[in-house]
Amino acid sequence: MAMGKRVKIPIAEPIIVGNELAYLKECVKTRWVSSLGPFVKRFENSFARFCGVKYASTVANGTAALHLALLAAGIKANDEVIVPNMTFVSTANAVVFCNAKPVFVDVCKHSWNIDPEKIEEKINKRTKAIIPVHLFGCPAEMKAINKLAKEHELFVLEDAAEALGAEYRNKKAGALANAAAFSFYGNKIITTGEGGMVTSNNKRFIEKVNLLKDQGKSKKRKFYHTVLGYNYRMTNLQAAFGLAQLEGIKKLLKRKREIAKHYFDLLSGVDSVRFQEVPKKAKSSYWFISVVLEKPFPKAAQAAKKLAKVGIETRPFFTPLTKLPFYRTKERFPVSEYLYRHGLCLPSGVTLKDWQIDFICKELKKLARG
Ligand SMILES: Cc1ncc(COP(=O)(O)O)c(C=O)c1O
Repeated sequence: MAMGKRVKIPIAEPIIVGNELAYLKECVKTRWVSSLGPFVKRFENSFARFCGVKYASTVANGTAALHLALLAAGIKANDEVIVPNMTFVSTANAVVFCNAKPVFVDVCKHSWNIDPEKIEEKINKRTKAIIPVHLFGCPAEMKAINKLAKEHELFVLEDAAEALGAEYRNKKAGALANAAAFSFYGNKIITTGEGGMVTSNNKRFIEKVNLLKDQGKSKKRKFYHTVLGYNYRMTNLQAAFGLAQLEGIKKLLKRKREIAKHYFDLLSGVDSVRFQEVPKKAKSSYWFISVVLEKPFPKAAQAAKKLAKVGIETRPFFTPLTKLPFYRTKERFPVSEYLYRHGLCLPSGVTLKDWQIDFICKELKKLARG
């Protein structure tokens, strides 16, 4: 189908077709709008069940989830935490919020996730944790990472912000390490507007998260705060929305995987298009179906401009963190830097129609022809 000039294929759109409004109405009717309402616990319980973990704790956003998880893991000033260089900035910022130091590791050429082979050389006496990120929903190589962590007694926190529903060796993201952090920002697998979740099988750890997100408030004595805490709570309104979203997760993931397959089928014959390689025995959530475009394609920024002209919205990969002013270093991270120059995230929302994918792939192939 020909695309009119004003038609635009968005990179992602939330899908809101379930009980969202009904649950929100319940909040309004009962007047439970802040964080004490019943939807908070219901959302946490359903989420923990879905991920196959014992505990889940709602929080204000994904960045807060990472921050709280690191604090609950005992990360403090002068500790070092290993993070991939190709990720959203929050992964490293959360480390700095604990006054600790993020130590960057390059990603793997094929999976675009932290390269387990490059982790060990960055471990020293100050290293306390590793944050593998499941980039674009593709699970990191958790077996190798957990093995290294065990050898060096490190805490492993999954940054699963983009990976709700992803699987690795028959376990869901969120259940693959000591703890995990999720985001429910508007473009994520499910959304609460803004929101996040921490998951873990460790009761004491989750109790710490619960204490820290709620101003360090004593349960026994009013206005008594046992530790320095934060207001990182999720509201009942957000949790109501999140619960309704989670009810639709199976259908949503099914459609995500169909969309990915459609892209693969249409582009698999094009040598110069590389997809993210999902590890063995793993399934991606396909948060963003992304490609690396090699010659004869133009560089990603130019390709994005040309696709925008025909109404296709794309996004660049994350700027490698060591290219940001506050994390800049002289050390080179060739894989992240290459991916940044050549990588593009394609429209991946579940509202995407098959004919739109046909059109996107046709336009991509045109780009290779110059
Ligand atoms: C990998 C990763 N980590 C952390 C976050 C932070 O989540 P939020 O935007 O909810 O704070 C995001 C989301 O943008 C993300 O993609």
